[in-house]
Amino acid sequence: MFLAHLLRQAGVDAVVLEARNRDYVEGRVRAGVLEQNTVRLMQRLGIGERVAREGLVHAGTTLCVDGEPFHVNFSDLTEGGAITVYGQSEVMKDLNLAADQHGIRVIYEAADVELHRLDTQPFITWTTNGERQKLRCDFVVGCDGYHGVSRASIPGDALQTFERVYPFGWLGILADVPPCNHELVYANHTHGFALASMRSPTRSRCYLQCSLEDRVDEWSDQRFWDEFELRIGTQFTSRITRGPSFEKSIAPLRSFVCTTMRWGRLFLAGDAAHIVPPTGAKGLNLAVADVVVLGDALSAWFGAGDERGLEEYPRRALDRIWKAERFSWWLTHLTHRFPDMDVFDRHMQVAEFAYLRQSRAAQTSFAENYVGLPLEF
Ligand code: DHB
Repeated sequence: MFLAHLLRQAGVDAVVLEARNRDYVEGRVRAGVLEQNTVRLMQRLGIGERVAREGLVHAGTTLCVDGEPFHVNFSDLTEGGAITVYGQSEVMKDLNLAADQHGIRVIYEAADVELHRLDTQPFITWTTNGERQKLRCDFVVGCDGYHGVSRASIPGDALQTFERVYPFGWLGILADVPPCNHELVYANHTHGFALASMRSPTRSRCYLQCSLEDRVDEWSDQRFWDEFELRIGTQFTSRITRGPSFEKSIAPLRSFVCTTMRWGRLFLAGDAAHIVPPTGAKGLNLAVADVVVLGDALSAWFGAGDERGLEEYPRRALDRIWKAERFSWWLTHLTHRFPDMDVFDRHMQVAEFAYLRQSRAAQTSFAENYVGLPLEF
C-alpha cells in the first residue's frame, strides 16, 4: 500500500491484489513501533495527520537484566531521534482510507494468484467472486509476505536465501490496562525475555518469550501476568495493572533474507524477501524502506525510461536489509534465553548489558539502529 501511494504520487498506475478482506487487514495485530523514516513518509504521502495526533513519541527506552533497569535516551544520543508507537493496524487504516480518496484500486479476496511471463511481458491471474481475472502489467512487485506466491514464482535454481530459525516463540497479549511504564521496557530474565509495550495510554501490549511447544490455551491471563511481573523487573512490578487480555497469540521467530530481489520483471519487497525476529520491531519499517527505493526506481523508469534505479534496487535494498537483520539478531541474542546457553554465554549477556549501561558509544550504536538508520546509510 505504501508503494501504491508512492507510485500514485509519481503518476504511475498500480493495482493492489490482497488475499484477505479489508477488515482482516485493518484488524490484524502486528508490531507498533514506527521509525522516524516511516512517520516522515506518511507525512509526505499526506497520511500523517492521525499518527501525529495519536502516535506516542518515545525519546528513549529501558533495558533491564535480572530486574536491574537502565534507560537509553535516543534523543540525546541521536540528535533528537525518537520512535513513534502507533499500531500497524492503524497504519493500514490510514493507507486504505487515503487509497479510497485517491482512487487507488485495491482488489480484496484475490484467491489463487498466479504470476506469468515474468521474464518478458508479465500478467497476473486470480479469482475473485468465483471468476478468473487477468491483468497485464509492466512490472509485478511481490509484497505478499513470507508465504506469498511471488518468491515461489522464481525458479528454485535462481533463488539465493539465508535463514536462521530461533528455538523459542513470543507470546503476546493486548489488554485494556495502562502500561507499566511510559516507554517500552525490554527485559532479559533467567526465565527468558519480556517486553512491555503499548498501543495507547490505556492499552498495553506485552510479550513473553515462550516455548515453541506451548499452546495459547496453556497460558491463562493469570499465568501470563504472574510470569510478566517476575521477568519485567522490580521497578515496574508495582506499576503493572492486570486486566483480561482480548488478544493472545504465539509467533515464531526467524531471520531470513532472499538476496534474489529481482527476477526479470518481478521485484520482491518486504517480508516476501526478508524476515526479522520481532525484537526491535523492524519488520514494517524495513518493508517501507524497500519500497521507498523501489518507488523512486519505478518512477524513474516510467518517467524517463531510466533503468539504473531498477538495476540497483537489490543492492541498495539489501545494504539496509542486512543491517536491520544484524540489529534484530543482535537484540534477540542480547535479550533471550537460548536453550543451549551455558554459564559462559550468560556472563556474555550480562557483560554486554553492563557495557551498554556504561558506554555512551554502545548506547549510541543501539539508539541509532533502534530509531532507524538514515534511508541512505
Ligand atoms: C512491539 C513489538 C516489538 O517487536 C518491539 O520490539 C517493540 C514493540 C509492539 O508490538 O508494540
